Amino acid sequence: MSRLPATSTDTQTRAPRPEALDQSRLPAHVAVIMDGNGRWAKSRGLPRVMGHRAGVEALKTTLRLCSDWGIQALTAYAFSTENWSRPGDEVSFLMTLFERVLKSELKSLEKERVRIRFLGDLDGLPDGLQALITDAMERTSENQGIQFNVCTNYGGRRELVRAAQRLAERAVRGELSPQSIDENHLAAELFTAGMEDPDLLIRTSGEQRISNFLLWQLAYAEIHITDVHWPDFDAQALTQALLDFQSRNRRFGGLEPIKS
Ligand code: FPP
Repeated sequence: MSRLPATSTDTQTRAPRPEALDQSRLPAHVAVIMDGNGRWAKSRGLPRVMGHRAGVEALKTTLRLCSDWGIQALTAYAFSTENWSRPGDEVSFLMTLFERVLKSELKSLEKERVRIRFLGDLDGLPDGLQALITDAMERTSENQGIQFNVCTNYGGRRELVRAAQRLAERAVRGELSPQSIDENHLAAELFTAGMEDPDLLIRTSGEQRISNFLLWQLAYAEIHITDVHWPDFDAQALTQALLDFQSRNRRFGGLEPIKS
């Protein structure tokens, strides 16, 4: 597996932002549902897991491009709470892949000043992976570059239930009254506490679903769906998504378009 390309701190190798993009209207936070790894592999006569391997390369490319083009946060849906129902071999492959990628990429992430966070029920992951995740989050927590969130064993409904439980516990302890609970309280109990919501959701491989991803946080996100399978997602596909975003009038429920 190749290492991350040369660092964003190395200005000579920074990928230039396409001229067609309006720099002042880039989304601050992009979320991606990386779908189509299996179909990509099948169309090449390869085992499904080869699609996941190729998907890692597409994710590295996307992270690098987002960082170089000035996007502040990227959140990727790597493994959902529903993905445990896949065949055991595929689940084991993915867990091992996450471990291998974390081991091989951590130095590059540190060098590129990426702040990596894993969001989800991390206790349910294999012990070795949990240890690598803790180490990666600690070692990059002070970095000032792009925020990179990897949703792993993540489910939007479960996240909301967990938030409700935590608020209920606080109410029982007398720390806050049920009537005082507002959107800020709930948002503060989500895995994404303290982060801005995504402005743009990209889903690859044509499916028109949210699939239990960031149910609260995507309330006002623009949605871009492309037929490109995730392993083929590249600079051109990202540019298309960003141009699509820039063509939208974001009104947030009001009447006047608000410039993104
Ligand atoms: C969906 O495609 C993809 C996944 C469930 C896994 C995505 C994971 C990666 C790209 C690896 C990321 C690695 C790190 C370290 C963050 P699918 O299998 O559902 O494709 P299909 O719909 O064509 O079957």
